[in-house]
Amino acid sequence: MAEKTLDDLFYDTLKDIYYAERQVLKALPKMARAATDPKLKAAFEKHKEETQGQIERLQEVFELIGKRAQGKTCEAIQGIIAEGEEIMEDYKGTAALDAGLISSAQAVEHYEITRYGTLKAWAEKLGHTKVVPLLDATLTEESTTDESLTELASASVNAAAQKAA
Ligand SMILES: [Fe+2]
Ligand SMILES: [Fe+2]
Repeated sequence: MAEKTLDDLFYDTLKDIYYAERQVLKALPKMARAATDPKLKAAFEKHKEETQGQIERLQEVFELIGKRAQGKTCEAIQGIIAEGEEIMEDYKGTAALDAGLISSAQAVEHYEITRYGTLKAWAEKLGHTKVVPLLDATLTEESTTDESLTELASASVNAAAQKAA
Protein backbone atom coordinates (compact mmCIF):
# COMPACT_ATOMS: atom_id res chain seq x y z
CA MET A 1 0.00 0.00 0.00
CA ALA A 2 1.35 3.42 -0.95
CA GLU A 3 2.16 5.82 1.84
CA LYS A 4 -0.55 8.38 2.54
CA THR A 5 0.35 11.96 1.71
CA LEU A 6 -0.76 15.50 2.46
CA ASP A 7 -2.74 15.27 -0.78
CA ASP A 8 -4.70 12.35 0.65
CA LEU A 9 -5.24 14.23 3.88
CA PHE A 10 -6.50 17.25 1.94
CA TYR A 11 -8.95 15.13 -0.06
CA ASP A 12 -10.16 13.23 3.03
CA THR A 13 -10.72 16.48 4.92
CA LEU A 14 -12.62 17.96 1.96
CA LYS A 15 -14.87 14.89 2.07
CA ASP A 16 -15.37 15.42 5.80
CA ILE A 17 -16.47 19.06 5.42
CA TYR A 18 -18.58 18.22 2.35
CA TYR A 19 -20.51 15.72 4.45
CA ALA A 20 -20.68 18.18 7.35
CA GLU A 21 -22.02 21.05 5.20
CA ARG A 22 -24.81 18.85 3.87
CA GLN A 23 -25.80 17.88 7.41
CA VAL A 24 -25.74 21.55 8.41
CA LEU A 25 -27.94 22.40 5.41
CA LYS A 26 -30.56 20.00 6.80
CA ALA A 27 -30.21 21.24 10.39
CA LEU A 28 -30.48 24.99 9.71
CA PRO A 29 -34.16 25.04 8.63
CA LYS A 30 -35.05 23.14 11.82
CA MET A 31 -33.15 25.70 13.86
CA ALA A 32 -34.84 28.56 12.01
CA ARG A 33 -38.26 27.05 12.76
CA ALA A 34 -37.36 26.53 16.42
CA ALA A 35 -36.01 30.06 16.98
CA THR A 36 -38.43 32.54 18.50
CA ASP A 37 -36.46 35.77 18.00
CA PRO A 38 -37.17 37.00 14.44
CA LYS A 39 -33.59 38.22 14.02
CA LEU A 40 -32.26 34.81 14.98
CA LYS A 41 -34.70 33.12 12.61
CA ALA A 42 -33.48 35.42 9.83
CA ALA A 43 -29.84 34.71 10.70
CA PHE A 44 -30.40 30.95 10.40
CA GLU A 45 -32.27 31.37 7.12
CA LYS A 46 -29.53 33.58 5.71
CA HIS A 47 -26.87 31.08 6.70
CA LYS A 48 -28.87 28.26 5.11
CA GLU A 49 -28.59 30.12 1.78
CA GLU A 50 -24.87 30.66 2.35
CA THR A 51 -24.43 26.98 3.19
CA GLN A 52 -26.01 26.02 -0.12
CA GLY A 53 -23.42 28.22 -1.84
CA GLN A 54 -20.63 26.70 0.25
CA ILE A 55 -21.62 23.22 -0.90
CA GLU A 56 -21.43 24.39 -4.50
CA ARG A 57 -18.05 25.97 -3.79
CA LEU A 58 -16.80 22.65 -2.44
CA GLN A 59 -17.99 20.91 -5.61
CA GLU A 60 -15.90 23.43 -7.53
CA VAL A 61 -12.91 22.63 -5.30
CA PHE A 62 -13.27 18.90 -6.00
CA GLU A 63 -13.42 19.65 -9.69
CA LEU A 64 -10.34 21.88 -9.56
CA ILE A 65 -8.28 19.15 -7.92
CA GLY A 66 -9.65 16.57 -10.33
CA LYS A 67 -11.39 14.44 -7.72
CA ARG A 68 -14.90 13.18 -7.31
CA ALA A 69 -17.17 15.23 -5.00
CA GLN A 70 -17.85 12.79 -2.24
CA GLY A 71 -18.78 12.98 1.43
CA LYS A 72 -17.27 11.01 4.28
CA THR A 73 -19.22 10.53 7.50
CA CYS A 74 -18.14 13.12 10.04
CA GLU A 75 -18.97 12.02 13.56
CA ALA A 76 -17.94 15.36 14.98
CA ILE A 77 -20.68 17.26 13.14
CA GLN A 78 -23.19 14.49 13.89
CA GLY A 79 -22.43 14.96 17.58
CA ILE A 80 -22.67 18.74 17.45
CA ILE A 81 -26.00 18.57 15.59
CA ALA A 82 -27.33 15.91 17.98
CA GLU A 83 -26.56 18.19 20.91
CA GLY A 84 -28.41 20.99 19.16
CA GLU A 85 -31.44 18.76 18.70
CA GLU A 86 -31.31 17.88 22.37
CA ILE A 87 -31.38 21.58 23.27
CA MET A 88 -34.36 22.12 20.92
CA GLU A 89 -36.27 19.38 22.71
CA ASP A 90 -35.24 20.08 26.27
CA TYR A 91 -35.74 23.86 26.06
CA LYS A 92 -38.79 23.96 23.81
CA GLY A 93 -41.18 26.67 24.99
CA THR A 94 -38.67 28.20 27.42
CA ALA A 95 -37.13 31.67 27.42
CA ALA A 96 -33.68 30.06 27.28
CA LEU A 97 -34.29 28.25 23.96
CA ASP A 98 -32.84 30.91 21.63
CA ALA A 99 -29.67 31.25 23.72
CA GLY A 100 -29.26 27.48 23.48
CA LEU A 101 -29.81 27.54 19.72
CA ILE A 102 -27.09 30.18 19.36
CA SER A 103 -24.71 28.09 21.44
CA SER A 104 -25.15 25.06 19.20
CA ALA A 105 -24.97 27.12 16.02
CA GLN A 106 -21.70 28.60 17.22
CA ALA A 107 -20.34 25.12 17.91
CA VAL A 108 -21.09 24.31 14.25
CA GLU A 109 -19.40 27.52 13.03
CA HIS A 110 -16.32 26.87 15.10
CA TYR A 111 -16.03 23.35 13.72
CA GLU A 112 -16.31 24.72 10.19
CA ILE A 113 -13.77 27.46 10.91
CA THR A 114 -11.16 24.91 12.02
CA ARG A 115 -11.79 22.78 8.95
CA TYR A 116 -11.64 25.61 6.42
CA GLY A 117 -8.63 27.17 8.15
CA THR A 118 -6.73 23.88 7.87
CA LEU A 119 -7.90 23.22 4.31
CA LYS A 120 -6.87 26.69 3.20
CA ALA A 121 -3.37 26.27 4.71
CA TRP A 122 -2.97 22.87 3.05
CA ALA A 123 -4.25 24.17 -0.30
CA GLU A 124 -1.60 26.90 -0.15
CA LYS A 125 1.10 24.37 0.74
CA LEU A 126 0.02 22.00 -2.03
CA GLY A 127 -0.04 24.79 -4.60
CA HIS A 128 -3.77 24.57 -5.31
CA THR A 129 -3.81 28.29 -6.01
CA LYS A 130 -7.30 28.40 -7.54
CA VAL A 131 -8.76 26.55 -4.59
CA VAL A 132 -7.42 28.93 -1.93
CA PRO A 133 -9.80 31.86 -2.64
CA LEU A 134 -12.81 29.51 -2.66
CA LEU A 135 -11.93 28.11 0.76
CA ASP A 136 -11.15 31.59 1.99
CA ALA A 137 -14.55 32.92 0.87
CA THR A 138 -16.30 30.23 2.89
CA LEU A 139 -14.01 30.75 5.86
CA THR A 140 -14.98 34.42 5.87
CA GLU A 141 -18.71 33.56 5.76
CA GLU A 142 -18.35 31.15 8.67
CA SER A 143 -16.45 33.71 10.74
CA THR A 144 -18.93 36.47 9.94
CA THR A 145 -21.81 34.17 10.91
CA ASP A 146 -20.10 33.33 14.18
CA GLU A 147 -19.53 37.01 14.96
CA SER A 148 -23.10 38.00 14.18
CA LEU A 149 -24.38 35.24 16.47
CA THR A 150 -22.17 36.58 19.25
CA GLU A 151 -23.62 40.04 18.66
CA LEU A 152 -27.18 38.78 18.66
CA ALA A 153 -26.59 36.89 21.91
CA SER A 154 -25.06 39.83 23.70
CA ALA A 155 -27.42 42.47 22.29
CA SER A 156 -30.70 40.74 23.15
CA VAL A 157 -30.96 36.96 23.23
CA ASN A 158 -29.02 36.27 26.42
CA ALA A 159 -30.94 38.95 28.30
CA ALA A 160 -34.26 37.58 27.03
CA ALA A 161 -33.19 34.09 28.12
CA GLN A 162 -32.65 35.34 31.64
CA LYS A 163 -36.22 36.54 32.02
CA ALA A 164 -38.56 34.23 33.87
CA ALA A 165 -41.06 32.45 31.63
FE1 LIG B 1 -20.69 26.05 6.23
FE1 LIG C 1 -21.52 27.76 8.84
